[in-house]
Amino acid sequence: MKIVVIGGTGLIGSKLVNRLLQHGHEAVPAAPTTGVNTLTGAGLSQALSGADVVVDVSNSPAYDEAAMDFFETSTRNLLAAEAAAGVGHHVALSVVGTERLSESAYFRAKIVQEYLVTQSVIPWSIVHATQVFEFLENIADGATVGNRVRLAPVAFRPMAADDVAKVVARVSVGTPLNRMIEAAGPQEFRLDELIRDWLGDRDQPREVIADPEARYFGALLKERTLVPGDGARQGEIRLDEWRAEVASLTGRPPRQEFVFRH
Ligand SMILES: NC(=O)c1ccc[n+]([C@@H]2O[C@H](COP(=O)([O-])OP(=O)(O)OC[C@H]3O[C@@H](n4cnc5c(N)ncnc54)[C@H](OP(=O)(O)O)[C@@H]3O)[C@@H](O)[C@H]2O)c1
Repeated sequence: MKIVVIGGTGLIGSKLVNRLLQHGHEAVPAAPTTGVNTLTGAGLSQALSGADVVVDVSNSPAYDEAAMDFFETSTRNLLAAEAAAGVGHHVALSVVGTERLSESAYFRAKIVQEYLVTQSVIPWSIVHATQVFEFLENIADGATVGNRVRLAPVAFRPMAADDVAKVVARVSVGTPLNRMIEAAGPQEFRLDELIRDWLGDRDQPREVIADPEARYFGALLKERTLVPGDGARQGEIRLDEWRAEVASLTGRPPRQEFVFRH
């Protein structure tokens, strides 16, 4: 099966490409650095020639209003090129809770991306995954003013990027679902507590404040905005296992100050 992975050089995309290759598929990473740009259309028709499936795991370089132009233009270009190439299945990766986060410019753009996919002539599947472990640092930084980090005390179920890639790979080689499915990590945390533990006692300590009014990339959160409903696919890799794995690869021990309470 020829599977073109748009964003196949990214965090999740590179793991997805490797997994598909390991399973014997012709997985082709497509991104600006490989000569394919979904915003301009450059290289798209050549990359899609003979493709059975296209998986879109690309991301906007910006999380502000510019995300709308990225996801709308890219998705329109991509779906048109897929229709011309006779692609049989379009898979898009999005985020659990996207439909509940429309106060955020980034998530408004993801809503438009998903809408375009569902309206296209190409059979489709959408995977909603929770935040990957690598993204915890971005969440902390995005909520920081001075040395204070304000986060809503809400349910949170991050997952390993490897587990996201596994779910997306399975969906990509299967029959189009023409619906959205959800995936999340094996442990449920509180967002503020997890980030407090994550930041630990770094050289420049930051105080994490539980604030129900704190916005998450521009959106107010309710208790279960960021977690999936019943029936979500569950990742296998726990946060402590992932940290130990990263530590063994980088040669640095896991942070001693991080307390795994779950
Ligand atoms: N990260 C998370 O926690 C998470 C959780 C759930 C869902 N998601 C969704 O998963 C997707 C991927 O996230 P990620 O964190 O893996 O992203 P990422 O690491 O930032 O990777 C983004 C990818 O998009 C490519 N790209 C950027 N502009 C492009 C363009 N004009 N044309 C084609 N490709 C382009 C990049 O290519 P270059 O390498 O050439 O720049 C890169 O391969 C996003 O849609 C996000 O909403 C992410």
